[in-house]
Amino acid sequence: MRVAVVGATGAVGSTMLGILRERSFPADEVVPFASERSAGRSIDWGDLDLTVQPLAEDSIHGFDIALFSAGSIVSAEWAPKFADAGAVVVDNSSQWRMHADVPLVVSEVNPESLDGHRGLVANPNCTTMQMVLALKPILDAAGIERVVMSSYQAVSGTGQRAVDELHRQTEAVVEAQELPAPKVYPHQIAFNVLPQVETFKDGDDHTTEERKCMRETRKILGREDIGVSATCARVPVYTGHSVSANVQTREPLSPEECRDVLAAAPGVTVVDDPANALYPLAIDAAGRDDVLVGRIRRDASHERCLNLWVVGDNLRKGAATNAVQVAELLNVRDLLRAVRR
Ligand SMILES: NC(=O)c1ccc[n+]([C@@H]2O[C@H](COP(=O)([O-])OP(=O)(O)OC[C@H]3O[C@@H](n4cnc5c(N)ncnc54)[C@H](OP(=O)(O)O)[C@@H]3O)[C@@H](O)[C@H]2O)c1
Repeated sequence: MRVAVVGATGAVGSTMLGILRERSFPADEVVPFASERSAGRSIDWGDLDLTVQPLAEDSIHGFDIALFSAGSIVSAEWAPKFADAGAVVVDNSSQWRMHADVPLVVSEVNPESLDGHRGLVANPNCTTMQMVLALKPILDAAGIERVVMSSYQAVSGTGQRAVDELHRQTEAVVEAQELPAPKVYPHQIAFNVLPQVETFKDGDDHTTEERKCMRETRKILGREDIGVSATCARVPVYTGHSVSANVQTREPLSPEECRDVLAAAPGVTVVDDPANALYPLAIDAAGRDDVLVGRIRRDASHERCLNLWVVGDNLRKGAATNAVQVAELLNVRDLLRAVRR
């Protein structure tokens, strides 16, 4: 099997390369692609040195699968070209997620949505991904009427430039130097919390990230009737998004029952012993593929509402791991044949 990794030099792409190796993905050849800036660069991939290729019409043929993480503009142009050339594309950008004929898949939640794909499969937004892993078992056990979520999102969710910006600003503050002007975010991120993740588009009072959380949650769960309200904030954490979710169920569900259904759910680990200061932490979730859920408790203001604290590694399960898991599903379920779109 030939695998293309498009955006291979970025935060998600380099994590995907690592996860392909970790999970012994059955690839005969892996070809990294990035922009002209990185073309020719060598990437150390275990025993192999891979050479970064620029995207070009004559170099995209003969792939079975293409894992994309190079942003929406690149995906808009190149994902259909790879698909037309015979690969199945798993795309991390937001470009194709809400298209009716593109499945939006979390491997543990809605793998059946891969059936009948037409060459493009979308990987959800990282914040949505970790939250739906916790919501699906609750939906199955008691139904869900409404979710009110607030996120505390790490800078690696914006990419490598944001990680560098937090690092430089933190150093400057600690060393009492003049702060470099913010380039990635509209304000200083070090020692700050920004109630803006991505942009306010066309006068909308929600950010694009908040809209993604609301729309994608419904699409993945296949339930347009679930109300979702989102507030997304950026925090000075390198890796690991945290989400506070208030979940209003249709049927009564006690915190104990909720803990039990979540403990049995694939991809979820319950960490919930607050009396001993045990709850999910971003620094614990970083580097792991499971999503941690804790602080499970009754909302004192509503008898059918529960509060949860959900933490996941945005680069791994929030992006790279799920993309590779989707590729594994496509392979084992014989869904990698060339598809005419
Ligand atoms: N970071 C996360 O937690 C996360 C989670 C879910 C989804 N995503 C999505 O994944 C995508 C990548 O995010 P990231 O955080 O990995 O960003 P990043 O660190 O900035 O990496 C971007 C990658 O895209 C490549 N690229 C940029 N312009 C290109 C072009 N014109 N042609 C070919 N390659 C190009 C870059 O190559 P060069 O090195 O040559 O510039 C780099 O490899 C985005 O769509 C993002 O929304 C990210």
